[in-house]
Amino acid sequence: MSRERSNPRVSDGVPPDLVPGRLLATGARIPVIGLGTFGSDSVPHEKVAEAVLEAARVGYRHFDCASVYGNEAHVGRSFRAILRSGVRREDLWVTSKLWNDKHGEKDVAASCERSLRDLRLDYLDLYLVHWPFPNFHPPGCDVTSRSPDAKPYVHESYMKTWRQMERLVERGLVRHIGSSNMTVPKLDLLLRDAVIRPAANEMELHPHFQQEELLRYVVDHGIVPIGYSPIGSPGRPERDRTPEDTVDTEDPAIVAIAERLGVHPAVVCLKWGLQRGHVVIPFSVRRRNYLANLRAAVTDPLTDADMKAIAGTERGCRLIKGQVFLWRDGQSWRDLWDEDGRIAG
Ligand SMILES: NC(=O)c1ccc[n+]([C@@H]2O[C@H](COP(=O)([O-])OP(=O)(O)OC[C@H]3O[C@@H](n4cnc5c(N)ncnc54)[C@H](OP(=O)(O)O)[C@@H]3O)[C@@H](O)[C@H]2O)c1
Repeated sequence: MSRERSNPRVSDGVPPDLVPGRLLATGARIPVIGLGTFGSDSVPHEKVAEAVLEAARVGYRHFDCASVYGNEAHVGRSFRAILRSGVRREDLWVTSKLWNDKHGEKDVAASCERSLRDLRLDYLDLYLVHWPFPNFHPPGCDVTSRSPDAKPYVHESYMKTWRQMERLVERGLVRHIGSSNMTVPKLDLLLRDAVIRPAANEMELHPHFQQEELLRYVVDHGIVPIGYSPIGSPGRPERDRTPEDTVDTEDPAIVAIAERLGVHPAVVCLKWGLQRGHVVIPFSVRRRNYLANLRAAVTDPLTDADMKAIAGTERGCRLIKGQVFLWRDGQSWRDLWDEDGRIAG
């Protein structure tokens, strides 16, 4: 019996060594499912931290954190308890992210060190540049919020930030670095100029927003795709809702598969993502739900017909549009995403 199997856990949980992993370019293994920890400005930090602790008991070993979620100190207390319970640090995968107001040369290391202190860890498995813009918003803001000195993507500036990220790897503070909310033209430039390439790219991925081209690019370049909002983020903040948004978990094709399998449509979304090759990081603070989500990774796969049916549900529905990061009056959120293949200035 492996050490991991012998770790304390609850009888209805999933043995962590049954959860598949994806290999990164370094040979490290990231569990294919992690627990998201963004409480969408509405779930109390304590509740997220409780979910992290209990999720580890039911078998989660991967946690997706970020300084901007405001709860790393709370989550860190859970990590301390998890490690004290006998789980080895090398069996955990912890991601955190550099927030947009910390892209400056002196800020990157300080921000990473702060996350490590809050999370009570000696190193991170993965540290991401959360957004490719230095534009930020205060917690709980509405959709009209803009940072006063907001800027477009400037590659030279991003690379200055990236160099600091590379230093974190050299210093042993983080094992891997990666990107998030990127586009093909921006990744082209990053891959051209990086000394340490991004190991993973975190991107919005759910049945109604499949990002085929970006996903293919990422995989073809040996970068592991981590899909955020894999259920379609039903609890997302008001600033990320528009009347045109569609609801993955109400899609008739997804509901029909869920009914046949006797699971919630959320679980079908996750199985689809896993089979399509994404790492998925669903958020949940309900034990029943996060346990069902973990089980999605170790139970029978969807059929080819199911996969085909879900492929047909694509709606091009980006949920996390990022309006708060725009830098000019009168702009559309589409300018953040380089939809015509050019980086908007
Ligand atoms: N890199 C980025 O810019 C970025 C952006 C957005 C998100 N993320 C990361 O991705 C994570 C996940 O995304 P998300 O939080 O936006 O949305 P999500 O995971 O798509 O959806 C979470 C919602 O689904 C519900 N849910 C989860 N499992 C369920 C189940 N089995 N049955 C029914 N309902 C279920 C949860 O409610 P309950 O709590 O009631 O179960 C919660 O309201 C975040 O927490 C964060 O870590 C990263």
